[in-house]
Amino acid sequence: MSDAPATILVFDSGLGGLTVFREIAAARPDARFVYVADDAGFPYGNMPEEALITRIVHVIGKAIVEHAPDLVVVACNTASTLALTELRARFKVPFVGTVPAIKPACAQSVSKRIAVLGTQATVGREYTRALIREFAAGCEVALVGSPRLASFAEAELAGEPVADADIRTEITGCFIETEGRRTDTVVLACTHYPLLLARFRAVAPWPVEWLDPAPAIARRVADLLRDVPPTASSAPPRIVFTSGRAPSPALARALKPYGF
Ligand code: DGL
Repeated sequence: MSDAPATILVFDSGLGGLTVFREIAAARPDARFVYVADDAGFPYGNMPEEALITRIVHVIGKAIVEHAPDLVVVACNTASTLALTELRARFKVPFVGTVPAIKPACAQSVSKRIAVLGTQATVGREYTRALIREFAAGCEVALVGSPRLASFAEAELAGEPVADADIRTEITGCFIETEGRRTDTVVLACTHYPLLLARFRAVAPWPVEWLDPAPAIARRVADLLRDVPPTASSAPPRIVFTSGRAPSPALARALKPYGF
C-alpha cells in the first residue's frame, strides 16, 4: 500500500464549499486538499440545467486529470442535485455529494414544520422533491429558494458587508406559524449559507435549529477513506479559481483561517 497522502478534491461554484472543506480538513488533516472554485461560472443557481451539467462535468473532469484525487466532494447542492448521477457514470473516482438534509431535519423537528433554504435551482429540482416524498412523511416542508444569498456570502467574504434587511428578506419565507405551530428547523441547503449563519441568527424572527450537513459529509468522507492510512503530511491546501483570478487582499485575509 502506498504511503502517499490521500488527495481530496473539493468543488463548488464559489467559496461556499469552504464550509464543507473545513469539516473534512478537521476529519482528515493529513490529506492533500485541492479546492476548485468555479467562480467563472458563479452563480450556478441561475444557469440552465443542460449547460450546467456540461460545465460541471468539464471542470471536474479537468481537475481529476490534473490532480488525480482519491475522492471528489461536490460541495455544492446546486451541482449535486443535478449532476451527481452523470459524474458517477463518467468517472471512476468516488464522489460524495451535498444534498438537502431533509431526512435528519424531519427526524429532529419537534413541531414537524421545517424549511429548506437553498438556491432557487436546488429547491425546484426533482431530486429535492423526491427527498421530501421519501423522508418527510408527517412533516410539513417549506421550500424557500433564494436568488441572492450565495452572492451575499461571497460579498461578505470579499469584505463587502450586506445589510441586515437584505438578509432578512431572503430568509423570511422559512418562518411559518399557523395554529400555534412554528418552523423549528431550517435546512441550509446551499453550502454558502453557513458562512452567513451568525447573520441569520441575528435577523431571524424566532430561534430555530439551522441544519448544516457539513459534519455528516466529513464523516462520510472519513469513512470512505478509512483504508487510506493517515500520513504525517502537512502539505498546505491549494485553491484554484477557474477564472484564474488572484484573490483580493480582503479575500486573501478571509481565506487565511482555512489554511490557504
Ligand atoms: N454553493 C452552492 C450550493 O450549495 C450554490 C451557489 C450558486 O452557485 O448558486 O448550492
